[in-house]
Amino acid sequence: VDEPGLCSFTFPALVDRNPVVLSVSSDGNAPMLARLLRSRLELMLPANYGRIAQLLGELRGPVAERITDPAQRLRFWEDLVDGPVAELVLAGREAEARTHITAVLARTAGVRGEVWLVGAGPGDPDLLTIKAWRLMQKADVVLYDRLVAPAIVDLCRKDAERVYVGKRMAEHSLPQQDINALLVSLAGEGRRVLRLKGGDPFIFGRGGEEIEALAEHRIPFQVVPGITAAAGCACYAGIPLTHRDHARSVRFVTGHRRDGAVQFRGDDFLDEEETLVFYMGLVALPDICRGLIEAGRDPTTPAALVQQGTTARQRVLVGSLASLPDIVASHDVKAPTLLIIGGVVTLHQKLSWYEGGASD
Ligand SMILES: C[S@@+](CC[C@H](N)C(=O)[O-])C[C@H]1O[C@@H](n2cnc3c(N)ncnc32)[C@H](O)[C@@H]1O
Repeated sequence: VDEPGLCSFTFPALVDRNPVVLSVSSDGNAPMLARLLRSRLELMLPANYGRIAQLLGELRGPVAERITDPAQRLRFWEDLVDGPVAELVLAGREAEARTHITAVLARTAGVRGEVWLVGAGPGDPDLLTIKAWRLMQKADVVLYDRLVAPAIVDLCRKDAERVYVGKRMAEHSLPQQDINALLVSLAGEGRRVLRLKGGDPFIFGRGGEEIEALAEHRIPFQVVPGITAAAGCACYAGIPLTHRDHARSVRFVTGHRRDGAVQFRGDDFLDEEETLVFYMGLVALPDICRGLIEAGRDPTTPAALVQQGTTARQRVLVGSLASLPDIVASHDVKAPTLLIIGGVVTLHQKLSWYEGGASD
């Protein structure tokens, strides 16, 4: 195969999703290019793609019997390969897919809408999961938060309707109940709705409340995890959250309370070998640092504030519980920020690797 001059045929590069097979050939001119294209195609085709083809093969006879109008049949197939049924098969929920097909066939009408609650990660678009990206290409309408970077929203299907639903502390463009109601009504219209949230939907993201509303209305949904800010910011700041020399555990804490108060009761936060990560902690940062010292933490405990982690504007301010509030006050800090407290912060100086950001 490496001597094209001696060959009377060429071997293409294959993407095998049996019974679906794609082959890429450069007719022997550029095997490397064919391999590169193949690896890109591999990423675009989920592993279960072949199962969809097998299922469609099984259904051909029954569908032809049931839907005799060719145009209607074509629409049925189109909805099937690009709708909730394919999603169910890709998610490994084939039994549900079959039930769904039976119901759709029975009424030979359109399919129900669905909501995909998707974590978009902390900012860098390269940190999206393949599943998130795939659903972003399929959704008819996208509801997104302020924390989702415009570059990520841009990756959604070009003709998808985009709805900004805001969310900044104490300034919600749409109250949570209205967001829940909007999801229910859009899916009720039969639309495929992408609910795109910063980080991970289940970590300080109120994703649970949104899918509770969907479950109550019997709207089908899927949830796609995302890289949460703690994981993304810590990695890009070179702060291994549970480095064995410094920590045995890590705790994610909200720095924002409804009543505005931050309290540290008893010895709950005194474990020197536990890394603390505060989300939404910028406003209360002086209270958090003071509160921890008053509760008994050593004022020299290392602490870092990561601003706009994983983006080109990332910046890391490093100090201690005693010094960080003044350091932060003397910089023009921009949200979102994440506060990391514990011995692991000392590793930042040695392990910082991300060139997109600055360190002070
Ligand atoms: C409402 S919470 C949402 C958290 C999100 N669900 C997650 O898993 O990352 C918003 C907080 O996440 C943190 N955050 C999100 N993205 C961040 C980023 N790129 N850099 C620093 N902090 C971030 C900030 O503390 C911000 O106030």
